[in-house]
Amino acid sequence: MNRNLAWIGFMATGLLMLTLAMAVLREPTLQARAADQQLQQAISEGMAVYVEQCIICHGASGEGLVTYPALNIASSMDSETLFKTIERGRYGTQMAAYGVAEGGILSDTQINGLIALIQQGSWQAVYALADAKGVIPPEMVVAEIPEAMITTVSSLPGGEALATGLKLYAENCTACHGVNLEGSALAPALNTETLRVTDSLELVRRIEQGVPGTLMAGWDNAFTDIEVDAVVALIQRWQEVQTAGIAIPVVEAKPLDMSPEAITRGARLFSITCVSCHGQSGYGTQIAPALNNALFLDGVSDTQIHQIIAMGVNGTLMPAWGGRLSEAQINDLIVYMRSWQGSAPVITQPR
Ligand code: HEC
Ligand code: HEC
Ligand code: HEC
Repeated sequence: MNRNLAWIGFMATGLLMLTLAMAVLREPTLQARAADQQLQQAISEGMAVYVEQCIICHGASGEGLVTYPALNIASSMDSETLFKTIERGRYGTQMAAYGVAEGGILSDTQINGLIALIQQGSWQAVYALADAKGVIPPEMVVAEIPEAMITTVSSLPGGEALATGLKLYAENCTACHGVNLEGSALAPALNTETLRVTDSLELVRRIEQGVPGTLMAGWDNAFTDIEVDAVVALIQRWQEVQTAGIAIPVVEAKPLDMSPEAITRGARLFSITCVSCHGQSGYGTQIAPALNNALFLDGVSDTQIHQIIAMGVNGTLMPAWGGRLSEAQINDLIVYMRSWQGSAPVITQPR
């Protein structure tokens, strides 16, 4: 009996010690799991904010649209720099201050979520989320260049650079400078004698750094040195290229189409590119004024709206869409905004 009791006591003590030992062993794994759960939670919060607020400039895969910087390579930036950049923005650029402390809309938790996403998240998952929500930003206006034309250009002396320049120009510059460098309402012609005799280094500088305070952005983020040189070669040798029979096919701009289909297209485009700032159905947010507003709509012409959308509003958050949306897309947006006009409330906004 006594011996039995002692035996039970011994067993109980042993069990207790074993349980304690296991608890001590398990503690770090539990902690690791909790930390991992916290990280996943932060990343998914970051993703939700990203697809709503950041995608229109930095792209659905963080690849950086047009001249906006890529974030899928910013993972090497330390957390503190990332936090400051997102909270305070970058003065004098379209990168706004998003932190509540700076009058923005994002809490510290949300900013930390974005940082977790940038440093440890998956851009594939971001793309998938954006796709599921139907908010993948629209393609840029791209003039198609037939293969035969590339072959012709390549056969000129130094043709490889010219072919690269031609492709890059068609993809990135036609919307403003015209399909054949002839210029447009938005930007000057590049097929001028003055530019042909301008020092190449000076042209490189203007393209890389842009012209501050105008629609001409700096392309140094978007292009390699070789690519900039190729575009400069194209500009300077354009006459020669044209003599060889090169003419980039014109993407036709249609007159304002007021059909219900245009309104639907405009509504869809609005919900992708404008809603994060101008709010659902254009009712405005803290960041940007209401467009669904009789005072505004009655006071502006279609041409003026076109101008504002294409050129942006310098010195504010309103981006210039001229290089990113086609004429037809901008027209769809105008038609969509006009569809509000009959019922738009009168909103006097503090601006
Ligand atoms: C309207 C366009 C626009 C939007 C929207 C935007 N950004 Fe930016 N962002 C920029 C520009 C332009 C820069 C580069 C500023 C500069 O030249 O230093 C930038 C820079 C950055 C950088 C620094 C990248 C680097 O390599 O230096 C980070 C990080 C960043 N943005 C994060 C965000 C996040 C997160 C959001 C969403 C909350 C966001 N941005 C929304 C335009 C935008
Ligand atoms: C969103 C519209 C837009 C896009 C896209 C654009 N530019 Fe420009 N570009 C302008 C404007 C506007 C100016 C005139 C700036 C000024 O007032 O000095 C300009 C000026 C220039 C100049 C200087 C012209 C001069 O006479 O001094 C060059 C060179 C140039 N752009 C090249 C390019 C190239 C190459 C691309 C494509 C990689 C491009 N631009 C894309 C709007 C644009
Ligand atoms: C990153 C935020 C942002 C995005 C995205 C944005 N806007 Fe704006 N927009 C603004 C701001 C800020 C203003 C006010 C500028 C000012 O102070 O004059 C503005 C002004 C405007 C105006 C002039 C309104 C007025 O009362 O004068 C129009 C029109 C407009 N935006 C259309 C659009 C359209 C169409 C889109 C989508 C293609 C768009 N915006 C996307 C921030 C944005």
